[in-house]
Amino acid sequence: MSKILVTGGAGFIGSNFVRMLLQGGDHRIVNLDALTYAGNLENLQDVERNERYQFVRGDIADAKAMDAVFAEHRPDVVVHFAAESHVDRSVLDATAFVRTNVIGTQVLLDKSRQYKTQRFVHVSTDEVYGSLGAWGYFTEETPIQSNSPYSSSKAASDLMVRAAVHTHHMDCVITRCSNNYGPFQFPEKLIPLMIANALEGKKLPVYGDGKNVRDWIYVTDHCEGIREAMANGKAGEVYNFGGNAERENIFVVKEILRLLGKGEDLIHYVKDRPGHDRRYAMDSTKAKATLGWTPRHTFEEGLRQTVDWYVQNKAWWERVRSGAYQTYYQQQYGGR
Ligand code: NAD
Ligand code: DAU
Repeated sequence: MSKILVTGGAGFIGSNFVRMLLQGGDHRIVNLDALTYAGNLENLQDVERNERYQFVRGDIADAKAMDAVFAEHRPDVVVHFAAESHVDRSVLDATAFVRTNVIGTQVLLDKSRQYKTQRFVHVSTDEVYGSLGAWGYFTEETPIQSNSPYSSSKAASDLMVRAAVHTHHMDCVITRCSNNYGPFQFPEKLIPLMIANALEGKKLPVYGDGKNVRDWIYVTDHCEGIREAMANGKAGEVYNFGGNAERENIFVVKEILRLLGKGEDLIHYVKDRPGHDRRYAMDSTKAKATLGWTPRHTFEEGLRQTVDWYVQNKAWWERVRSGAYQTYYQQQYGGR
């Protein structure tokens, strides 16, 4: 049985990953999360009493606090999700992105080395590769050419991980994935925002001409890839994960409206995101060949399940939108 320190486990992908690890195997999980606006412990309400699960509130950029966490828990493995993750917010102010994504990652690498953590899994993104034209795919060999403050802070964190491998011979694996969607995604990202707005009869803001392309992956498919990279990935290697589901944004938005039985008159074209990357597409050949991983969900199945989840869990996203979710930690854990 190993002890896994999951950072950012109260967020979207991290909470799905924690749940997956608790469903199988015998790992003990410490979920370390600062509970920023994106952290929501209601995402893990169903597992919070599991005896293999523990929550610790902490800021990964606070070296002193991290020293105490590593000294107490001595993790065998770190799986690092914690990040500022929303591109639009990074355009408005990149400060928190540099602090958490770059400095926070460096602090975790330092503590992992000091406390002899066996493996460090760094969860990164396809956005570090930049933007594609109409053709081609990102492979692990594609040069890093990040364009937004968010993706540049992730690229910087990837390079700190690379330096830890090269300089300190740490056992680190980097995963890079395309756009996730599914249950518990914060309704500022395209798919949950459009579902929630449509359900409330609000306008759906589509940036620019709506023809930017993302490669959509269902969140548990990404989590399975991370789990395989954690267990069987080779030290120092990068693994790409994609969903084989390239779609234009406007197609995704119209599909959501169709599934909800709502009219396209809700669509509202708005000013484009500054520096908006045109197209992302992943080549996951390496992960398929060496990790035996493959995404299980088609986009059509995954989107239907996701729309159903948001319809059935209206209370979850209403509490996010009203801010009520931020009182949950205080109520359940009595913490500040
Ligand atoms: P998210 O924004 O939903 O969750 C981020 C979590 O990190 C939150 O729980 C937040 O409280 C926590 N956090 C933020 N700053 C922290 C700090 N200083 N200390 C401790 N915890 C902190 O993000 P997500 O969409 O679940 O993404 C998770 C990871 O996966 C990120 O590293 C992101 O770059 C990467 N990723 C995301 C996607 C995607 O489509 N969402 C795709 C590829 C990779
Ligand atoms: O590719 C992986 C990345 O995917 C992750 O690393 C990021 O953490 C995650 O946020 C996501 O980044 P994107 O910028 O691609 O996701 P977002 O949901 O913000 O936007 C998806 C597309 O939809 C993008 O082309 C912008 C567009 N969009 C987004 C919003 C929020 C709109 O047209 N309208 C909107 O209101």
